[in-house]
Amino acid sequence: SAEDSEAFVTLATTDSYCKGAVVVARSLRRHGTTRSTVVMVTPNISEQSRFALKDVFDEVIPVDVMDSDDHVHLSWLGRPELGITFTKLHCWTLTQYSKCVFLDADTLVLCNVDELFERDELSAAPDPGWPDCFNSGVFVFRPSLHTHGGLLDHALQHGSFDGGDQGLLNSFFSSWPAGDISKRLPFVYNLNASSFYSYLPAFQQFGHNAKIVHFLGAGKPWSQREESRSLTMQQFVCLWWKEYLSDTTSSTAGKQQQVRTSVCSERAAEAEADEERLQHRRLWEAGRADYLGRDTFQNIQKMLDRFLD
Ligand code: UDP
Ligand code: GLC
Ligand code: MN
Repeated sequence: SAEDSEAFVTLATTDSYCKGAVVVARSLRRHGTTRSTVVMVTPNISEQSRFALKDVFDEVIPVDVMDSDDHVHLSWLGRPELGITFTKLHCWTLTQYSKCVFLDADTLVLCNVDELFERDELSAAPDPGWPDCFNSGVFVFRPSLHTHGGLLDHALQHGSFDGGDQGLLNSFFSSWPAGDISKRLPFVYNLNASSFYSYLPAFQQFGHNAKIVHFLGAGKPWSQREESRSLTMQQFVCLWWKEYLSDTTSSTAGKQQQVRTSVCSERAAEAEADEERLQHRRLWEAGRADYLGRDTFQNIQKMLDRFLD
């Protein structure tokens, strides 16, 4: 059947992105995907990471590093490390599959999203920073050596306007913003923190339909770096940790999980208290109703309970 030749694909070029990739695979499986799961890895990945990936993915495929080395554009993006995302382009060489969905290693799948395979190349959701561009953290594509060659030619001739894969893919698939509307994925397939900060009422209204969360930006759930995050983001980070630590059988891992989970609930409680104080002050100062209330927390909680069940 067609399903046999379809796959979810991700990429990891470092051991830390491998942690993210493990969560991508586990969360896809948890929600019962019928498709294959594939991770592309570069040769520098440690043996240990490779084993962890083999455990959760159907296929672990070695690829060469590709780097744009475009320091100027990457500095505009503020992410000097993302030249290596050119490695993502290798996904078009996976011609053993007829259709694939690429997911960044910093995504978390919240429900079954197999319906994405009904879409065609190149389907993706708008980028919150410039919605006439698509975000390349989640996209539907058709492996093809012809397209792969075209992308490499395009990279040599025009480079990438952000120094990473997203700039290149947007100029290559340039009909995306004004073309076939079915190629515009709903934002819930690539939900990222910026929506909580820039359009909270929309998140309140539509956020419970979240299907894939994307931890876009320099601070990843697995990075130690402390970041100020909204309550909702912290809860998604907790969910990410629960997925990362799930299925672990050793007792050390079990303890680690308990610690993590309790840290998560403490953090969530603190954040809730903070948010309530802030809301109280805002209401008091503005003398008007505010959408940052108890309901917010209860709705989010309901949503998380649903995902965890
Ligand atoms: N990536 C990787 N190694 C890196 C940087 C990126 O493997 O050093 C891969 C990984 O799959 C990651 C994707 O490229 O999810 C895009 O990078 P990132 O998610 O960090 O970009 P953002 O979504 O934050 O802009
Ligand atoms: C973006 C995308 C990411 C991509 C990066 C570099 O912010 O989320 O997937 O790799 O830009 O182009
Ligand atoms: Mn990403």
